[in-house]
Amino acid sequence: MAKAKPRPAAAILLLLIFLAAAAAAVGAGSDAETTGGGGGMVGVDGTRFAVAGGGGRPIYFSGFNAYWLMLVASDPARRGKVVAAFRQAADHGLNLARTWAFSDGGDTPLQAAPGVYDEAMFQVATVTTVTCKPKRDVLAGLDFVVAEARRHGIYLLLCLTNNFHDFGGKRQYVQWARDAGHRLATDDDFFNSTVVKDYYKNHVKTVLTRVNTLTGVAYKDDATILGWELMNEPRCDAEPTGALVQAWVEEMAPYVKSIDGGHLVTAGLEGFYGAGAHESKDLNPWGIYYGTNFVETHRARGVDFATIHLYPDVWLWGSAADAQLAFLRNWTRSHARDADLYLRKPLLVTEYGKFLWEGVAGANRTQRDYFLRLVLDSIYASAARGGPLVGGAFWQLLDGGMDTLRDGYEIILPEDRLAATIIGNHSRQLAQLSLNTGEDVEKEAAAIRRRRKSAHRNTRTQRGWSQW
Ligand SMILES: *[C@@H]1O[C@H](CO)[C@@H](O)[C@H](O)[C@H]1NC(C)=O
Ligand SMILES: *[C@@H]1O[C@H](CO)[C@@H](O)[C@H](O)[C@H]1NC(C)=O
Ligand SMILES: *[C@@H]1O[C@H](CO)[C@@H](O)[C@H](O)[C@H]1NC(C)=O
Ligand SMILES: *[C@@H]1O[C@H](CO)[C@@H](O)[C@H](O)[C@H]1NC(C)=O
Repeated sequence: MAKAKPRPAAAILLLLIFLAAAAAAVGAGSDAETTGGGGGMVGVDGTRFAVAGGGGRPIYFSGFNAYWLMLVASDPARRGKVVAAFRQAADHGLNLARTWAFSDGGDTPLQAAPGVYDEAMFQVATVTTVTCKPKRDVLAGLDFVVAEARRHGIYLLLCLTNNFHDFGGKRQYVQWARDAGHRLATDDDFFNSTVVKDYYKNHVKTVLTRVNTLTGVAYKDDATILGWELMNEPRCDAEPTGALVQAWVEEMAPYVKSIDGGHLVTAGLEGFYGAGAHESKDLNPWGIYYGTNFVETHRARGVDFATIHLYPDVWLWGSAADAQLAFLRNWTRSHARDADLYLRKPLLVTEYGKFLWEGVAGANRTQRDYFLRLVLDSIYASAARGGPLVGGAFWQLLDGGMDTLRDGYEIILPEDRLAATIIGNHSRQLAQLSLNTGEDVEKEAAAIRRRRKSAHRNTRTQRGWSQW
C-alpha cells in the first residue's frame, strides 16, 4: 500500500517518556546475549521455516506491520510508542514485525543523499545532557527497534526501499542520479540504471554491516532479523510483463547474500502474476499486469521464500463482497499451490488488511473481523497440514493516540478486543503447531495409526460377536 508520512504526534509528558525510553534502553542492553527473535536464526526447510539450532524446529509466523517503528523511535517524545507496540504484540503472541529499514531523502531521512546517513536514525548515544531534555540526535532509530524486537522475542522482516514515493523509494533514487547529472527517463529506471543500482547496493551494505550500538551485534549477524525484503511492493509500468524487475531481483538477491549469507531474502512482491511460465494473470485484480512475475521472480537465486499481499477491498474497489471473498480464496489458494508445485519455498502473506471506516458500506467491524478470521484460518489450515502458507502479517499495528497514522486499516490491540482475541488465538495455535517437532508428529501419527487399528479390531471383534 502507499502509505502516508507520519507527522509529529501530540507530545506526551516529555520527562516521563524520556525516563521510559531510558529504562527501555537499559533493558535492551542487558540481554544482549539472548539469541534474538524466537530463539535463533531462521532458515528454510522445503516449504517451511525452521529455527537453526532449534533441532530444525518449524516456526510459523503470526505477524504485524508497523512501518513507522524506526521513525517514531528516532523521536524522543514518541519512543515509548515503539516499546508499547512490541509489548502489546508480544502479549498477543505475535512473533514477526515487518518494518522499514529505509527512509530515502525527505524531512526525516535515514539516507539523506546517496551514501549519507543521518546518525539520528541509526544511533543511540548515551544521554549526557543535565537538563534531561532529550535531543533528537542522541536517540535511537533503527538500532532501538532491533534491540526492542530482540528484547520482546519478535523477529523482524526489514524492508530496504519502497516502490512508492513514501519515504523516498524508487523516485528518490532516480532523482539522486539525475541530480548527479545522469539522464534517466522514468522512476522505473531504478531497476536498470547502473548508477542507481550502485546507490541501492551501498544502502544494502550500510544497513547489513551496521553494528547495533545498543546490542553490539552486527545486523547481518543478528538472529532477531528473520530476513531482508529488497523492496516494498515492486511494480514496473515500464516493463509490465516483468522482465525488468526479474533482472533486478536476480542481481540484488545474490548481492544481499554476498554480504549476509545467514539471513533469508525475499523480493517484497504482492503476488501479481506476469507473463512467464506457470503465471495466472487472469487472477490478477482486473486481470492486468503489474510488472512482476510471482513464480519466476521467486525462483531467482538468493530468494528464499515467497510473499503475497492481500487487499480485496482496495484491489477490487467497487466490486461486491462476494466477489472480494472469491478473490481472497482464489488468491491464497493459487499462490499456495504455486509455492508448493513450482517453488518449493515457504509463502507468507506479508500484508493483508480490510478497510474499516465506520459508516462506509462493506467496511464495518463485523466484516473486518470476518476477513481476519478467513485469512488467519487459511494460514493455520495450510500450516497444520504441512502446506507452504505458513504465516502472515496484518497491516497495520498502531498504539492508541497515534491518530495521524490511522489509515483505516489500523488495529489497536488494547482497543479492539475481538480482533485482539482472534489474533491472539491464532498466534497460540501456530505456536502450538511449532512445538510439534518431527518426533512429536511421528508420535502423533503413530498414535493415530494405533487408534485406527484398534478401532478396526474392535469393529471386527464386534462383528465377530454378532456372528456368533
Ligand atoms: C531501462 O529500461 C527502460 C525501460 O525498458 C529503457 O527505456 C532504458 O533504456 C533501460 N536503461 C538501461 C540502462 O538499460
Ligand atoms: C476463482 O476461481 C474460480 C474457479 O477457478 C473461477 O471460476 C472464478 O472466476 C475465480 N474468481 C475470481 C474472483 O478470480
Ligand atoms: C455490517 O455490514 C453488513 C453488510 O453490509 C451488515 O449485514 C451488518 O449488519 C453490519 N454490521 C454492523 C455491526 O453494522
Ligand atoms: C479464543 O480461544 C478461546 C480458548 O480456546 C476460545 O474460548 C474463544 O472462543 C476464542 N475466541 C475467538 C474470538 O476465537
